[in-house]
Amino acid sequence: MAQKRKILELQKKREQVFLGGGEKAIEKQAAMGKLTARERIEAILDKNSFHEYDLFVEHVATDFDMDKKILHGDGVIIGTGTVYGAPIAIYAQDFTVAGGSLGLMHARKITKIMDYALKMRMPLIGINDSGGARIQEGVNSLAGYGEIFFRNTLSSGVIPQISVILGPCAGGAVYSPALTDFVFVVDKISKMFITGPEVIKTVLGEDISMEALGGARVHCEITGNAHFFAESEIECFEQIKKLITFIPWNNKRKALAFEAKEPKKSFKIGEIVPEDSKQPYDVRDVVRALVDNSDFFEIQELWAANIVIGFGRMGGETVGFVCNQPLILAGVLDVDSSDKAARFIRYCDAFNIPIITLVDLPGYLPGVDQEHAGVIRHGAKMLYAYSEASVPKLTVILRKAYGGGYIAMNSRHLRADFVFAWPGAEIAVMGPEGAANIIFRKEILESEDPDKMRKQKVKEYKAKFANPYVAASKGYVDSVIEPEETRKLLLHAIEVSKNKDMHTIDRKHGIPPF
Ligand code: HXC
Repeated sequence: MAQKRKILELQKKREQVFLGGGEKAIEKQAAMGKLTARERIEAILDKNSFHEYDLFVEHVATDFDMDKKILHGDGVIIGTGTVYGAPIAIYAQDFTVAGGSLGLMHARKITKIMDYALKMRMPLIGINDSGGARIQEGVNSLAGYGEIFFRNTLSSGVIPQISVILGPCAGGAVYSPALTDFVFVVDKISKMFITGPEVIKTVLGEDISMEALGGARVHCEITGNAHFFAESEIECFEQIKKLITFIPWNNKRKALAFEAKEPKKSFKIGEIVPEDSKQPYDVRDVVRALVDNSDFFEIQELWAANIVIGFGRMGGETVGFVCNQPLILAGVLDVDSSDKAARFIRYCDAFNIPIITLVDLPGYLPGVDQEHAGVIRHGAKMLYAYSEASVPKLTVILRKAYGGGYIAMNSRHLRADFVFAWPGAEIAVMGPEGAANIIFRKEILESEDPDKMRKQKVKEYKAKFANPYVAASKGYVDSVIEPEETRKLLLHAIEVSKNKDMHTIDRKHGIPPF
């Protein structure tokens, strides 16, 4: 009997905590189109799989009358569960409790679940919805953030770390998501910034809304801080779940294999790339013509769209794609596209995901803007990332591969394992027009009909260099292949690369051009 009473007491205590910041605060949250922290966790995880810890943790602050306040769960929910059977550690800040602000015990809960995630080698999902450092707790809040950042860094490349921004994420708080692998945002709900509109108004006298400063679109289209954009929380959760199917639980595993499927017949690989190298096309159609079920899961779709990155499956196994996108800026490499690709290459390398690189680019983007924005420093990140990566690295040159772009896009010289080129590939120091104008300048100028002479020289140059056979004759390209043979060759290359083993040089770590 006594036991039953105690169980009832426990149930009552639980119910109290489940109320979070109370009905009014929950209604306010709902009016903004936001789910509660607990609803969010339930919606992401497999049904009934969530197990919560530290439900009864309470804050320990005493200043500013804090000792008179009860903050249920101290404004954050932590626990473990599964997504499609994969073990997941998760935390969700509860905005209904003191604005989800981060105090000492709140931070301790987060760092506890982060420690579990790292120890148990399972992915971590962090849902951010918070007014930032709890002002009443002073330096203890700052300490809490520091502890989180340290663990983000320690876990990097060991377990997947996913951040979901579902409300404000302000001040130093933004640096935890920035240290994680994938950041998800939702239109009109997510807000990320270091200094808010009020500070900007005070310091700079400028008026700007929170949305225009650091809304979801800003971070997907301009800053590149976010990787996935959704119209609603539910759409966002579907994206998270899909991502989890593509990645391994930790760096010692491979992503779970699925049943192999053929690409859809509607994607005809031989009919996508126009013969005229100036004509654009959507490289994602080439990817869809190659991957199982034509299912390509693109990452950072809205930012630096001149390069395309994302996951697909080949023969049931996850692969990462890095592709120039001729639809945008002719697929050039620039500051942002180099950053985007380099980080993704490092992700794939850390998590045992083979990389397939599809090449069609005229080189690095010329111009003062790019030079001054640091295209040398940022472009170097790609060279570093590819050179360092030891997962299977496969390259297909679809069409143009000019200059530094040829080298940077996982060339043999950066240790691609297999390099294939389509018959229309043009591998050269630069495009035929530019090249002919430079090396035949004298003949063209001195000719009676310079235009005719230029055309003839361009033709000559094209015939000699703008093809895959010079590179193939040196062994830089392993095979010149028909587009229709590509999937078969890539599947084989993945198969024979399964036991790839690279010697590593004994060093603490390299110094990439971060
Ligand atoms: C304590 C906070 C809080 C905070 C919000 N609350 N932020 N309490 N510390 N940082 C409380 C509010 O007092 C309020 O409590 C409840 O949460 C809901 O907040 P509202 O302001 O009513 O909500 P809303 O109108 O939706 O505005 C949300 C907001 C705003 C835009 C986030 O609250 C805000 O500007 N907060 C301060 C943001 C900030 O400057 N944080 C510090 C950043 S510096 P009641 O009891 O009334 O319900 C920082 C440094 C970290 O984080 C450095 C790490 C390296």
